[in-house]
Amino acid sequence: MARLVSLTGKGPVKVEVQDKPVFVCACGLSRKFPFCDGSHKKCADEPEGKTFRYEGPDLTRVETSA
Ligand code: FES
Repeated sequence: MARLVSLTGKGPVKVEVQDKPVFVCACGLSRKFPFCDGSHKKCADEPEGKTFRYEGPDLTRVETSA
């Protein structure tokens, strides 16, 4: 089964686990999901009002109609 999920986060959410900071991915692009791996840099400059998907190992941005 496959599913498409729409996320609007452009950076991680910091949480504390046993007094240590952990950065949780909120953009959905991380290869180490649920943890942030820095891939959110790919979506940092997305223009507002448009929707994109990211493809391939280099996370190529493709605009979608929905
Ligand atoms: S928030 Fe998704 S990779 Fe950093």
